[in-house]
Amino acid sequence: MQKKLKVAALLLAAALLGSSAYAEAEENIFGENFVGWLFNFQRTKGVKPVTDKQYQDECGECHFAYQPGLLPAKSWEALLTAEALRKHFGVNAELDNDTLKVIHDYAVDNAADKSWYKRSRKIAVATAEGPAPLRITELRYISRKHHDIPEKMIRGNKGVKSLSFCDKCHTQAAKGVYDADTVAVPNYPDWDD
Ligand code: HEC
Ligand code: HEC
Repeated sequence: MQKKLKVAALLLAAALLGSSAYAEAEENIFGENFVGWLFNFQRTKGVKPVTDKQYQDECGECHFAYQPGLLPAKSWEALLTAEALRKHFGVNAELDNDTLKVIHDYAVDNAADKSWYKRSRKIAVATAEGPAPLRITELRYISRKHHDIPEKMIRGNKGVKSLSFCDKCHTQAAKGVYDADTVAVPNYPDWDD
């Protein structure tokens, strides 16, 4: 009996040691947890969710916090200067210098052209040439996807108001998921008919 217990304890210890060595090895390939990435392959179809609290709080005040992976770095460089934020789409979205630096660097580091998430890759390729787009809704890739939605469901819809408010219709937008099967247009339960 004693001996069996000892063997069991040894086996358990070996399993624990083995699994922690394994856990270490699986980290930091591609800068992320590689095995986790493989298992969550579905997630990489969208854009990377926001992970910076300051970005989330400051840029989620008036609209949902757009994932940096929705625009290329050159766009964030243009949008996130003190000057540009004072005239941010007709409103003042000024930040103090320290916060601006954190948010600017976070957005640029996670921009579409620095990401391997599928939708970001598409946006990066589509915007590689030409001037920096200042709106996600202006991207051809995005406007094309919404071309067939009637205006009464967007501007004329109290529950939406603007195509810029992605999360009104994309129920999983905050997770970086924009798939068609997660869309629900407010006030138009049968939008798909
Ligand atoms: C004081 C309110 C306010 C704050 C704070 C704010 N925004 Fe905006 N933002 C707006 C408005 C208003 C629009 C235009 C919406 C529209 O056209 O319907 C906008 C639009 C945008 C767009 C373009 C969306 C499109 O149409 O594709 C981006 C990108 C954007 N904001 C990023 C940010 C980021 C990043 C921050 C954080 C630094 C931020 N915003 C903070 C008010 C704000
Ligand atoms: C008025 C509601 C509405 C708003 C607001 C909206 N979308 Fe959409 N979006 C849709 C609908 C509806 C579709 C098309 C689904 C289909 O093809 O059947 C769609 C499709 C898409 C697709 C393509 C999905 C696919 O796999 O075919 C992407 C990407 C997308 N939207 C991103 C965005 C982003 C980013 C924003 C904000 C800047 C946004 N959408 C705002 C309703 C909306």
